[in-house]
Amino acid sequence: MNKEIAIDGPAGAGKSTIAKKVAEKLGLIYVDTGAMFRGIALYMTEKGIEGSETGKIKGEINNIRLDIVYENGEQQIILNDENVSKLIRSPEISKAASEFAQVPEVRERLLLLQRELAAKRPVVMDGRDIGSKVLPDASVKIFLTADVRVRAERRCKELIEKGEKVNIEDIMSDIKSRDEQDMNRKVSPLIQASDAVLVDTSSLSIDEVVDTIIKIACDKNPDFI
Ligand code: DC
Repeated sequence: MNKEIAIDGPAGAGKSTIAKKVAEKLGLIYVDTGAMFRGIALYMTEKGIEGSETGKIKGEINNIRLDIVYENGEQQIILNDENVSKLIRSPEISKAASEFAQVPEVRERLLLLQRELAAKRPVVMDGRDIGSKVLPDASVKIFLTADVRVRAERRCKELIEKGEKVNIEDIMSDIKSRDEQDMNRKVSPLIQASDAVLVDTSSLSIDEVVDTIIKIACDKNPDFI
């Protein structure tokens, strides 16, 4: 049985925080696939291309080189030799990533990269279509979710800690529109794979979620113990 863990779920469910901790505890590599879509969105928006301009996207997609490297255990995204790991975290790029993620050529390109990474070493990979499309044979699949207000509150807390001004209603509406877009696109929409275990994190702490997932993983695949 392989040692792949796929974690999917909507925006702000805590996937990256949780996936990173699960990976650390189990000695696996954490792969954040959302960062790859963000890298492509950054490249295209810097060229003035929008998510609806499929012709231009197809024309540019092969000029993009995305490399994934690790610095002190943290995943870094290198876009054509530039480390863009911080630049991809703006609200504009969050919105754009969800738009570019609808384009089949973007998804095909990243699918290859994601599978290549998983083939090298056992991974905990998070995203929207990992259990359903990228790693359909992953031995452990988790669908992580939380109430939309709880997700918005967590995001607000993070932004306040960074000293930013926030409006919970705006954040909630951004999250809802991204979920809507991610769930309703034609290719690889956000769905819970039939063999994924649903974990609702609304009333759980980070450590409780991590422990829940590790228990699920060890029950499914004793090689994790
Ligand atoms: O997880 P995130 O917020 O960093 O992801 C940014 C966007 O990328 C998300 O709104 C949808 C897209 N995405 C995707 O379509 N498939 C994935 N496997 C990961 C992310």
